Amino acid sequence: MTVHFVGAGPGAPDLLTLRGRDIIAACQVCLYAGSLVPEAVLGHCPRDARIVNTAPLSLDQIMDEIAAAHAQGLDVVRLHSGDLSVWSAMGEQLRRLRAMGIPYSVTPGVPSFAAAAAALGTELTLPGLAQSVVLTRTPGRASAMPEGETLANFAATGATLCIHLSIHNLRQTVADLQPAYGGDCPVAVVWRATWPEQRILRGTLATIEGLVDGTMERTALILVGRALGGEGFEESCLYAVDYDRRFRPQSADSVYADSKE
Ligand SMILES: C[S@@+](CC[C@H](N)C(=O)[O-])C[C@H]1O[C@@H](n2cnc3c(N)ncnc32)[C@H](O)[C@@H]1O
Repeated sequence: MTVHFVGAGPGAPDLLTLRGRDIIAACQVCLYAGSLVPEAVLGHCPRDARIVNTAPLSLDQIMDEIAAAHAQGLDVVRLHSGDLSVWSAMGEQLRRLRAMGIPYSVTPGVPSFAAAAAALGTELTLPGLAQSVVLTRTPGRASAMPEGETLANFAATGATLCIHLSIHNLRQTVADLQPAYGGDCPVAVVWRATWPEQRILRGTLATIEGLVDGTMERTALILVGRALGGEGFEESCLYAVDYDRRFRPQSADSVYADSKE
């Protein structure tokens, strides 16, 4: 018996990995974080699977479900939205499983920041504009931010920021970022990326607050940075005609000329 953690992706049921889909289809028990994982993803479960929405459960109750499946020798798939490496609460569940001696596996999923960038048709790292992406959030009721992980500190780097769990904090977010990025810095808000009702708003730090209405709550990402502007960047060296590289040596003298790799 194994507990398989699977990143369920941003929402669209066909944005799972093939491995994730096959695991869901093979498990008799499915525990899913119903606050974010849409029911459509559950369509991959076997017809007779035990399917439990863990949104109203405590960690103890979730572990009780797993222990019961373990006692019956039933594999469990544990679904969390997006990818498991960020804000999935997987860490605390793995720690409990290790203590209980229950085996587990982890299958990554499409993270919401990548789905949002795809919806925008934007590369978040454009040459000369941004070469780093910061996945962050603002403090919430359940989670304080470690000292130093402030928006102002991240803004000082000029990186593209993907701000999660913060649409309700938009005013403070804008106030924290304006000094470093300036009011004309491009901002996009992507609500429910890949869901049928997906919405996209584009603006600047000066205008975005006036564009977002109260209907875009919870499942939204705020993306901020010059790369969101999408123009005015340099082309990368990678495909430049005169760029000497392993896969395209420019002369017989190139250090790559005899490379067999
Ligand atoms: C608890 S975190 C989960 C993040 C997830 N593990 C991931 O890889 O994206 C929930 C936050 O992720 C963002 N999010 C998740 N799914 C999203 C989607 N489909 N569209 C926009 N934002 C999403 C929102 O900021 C939401 O508040």
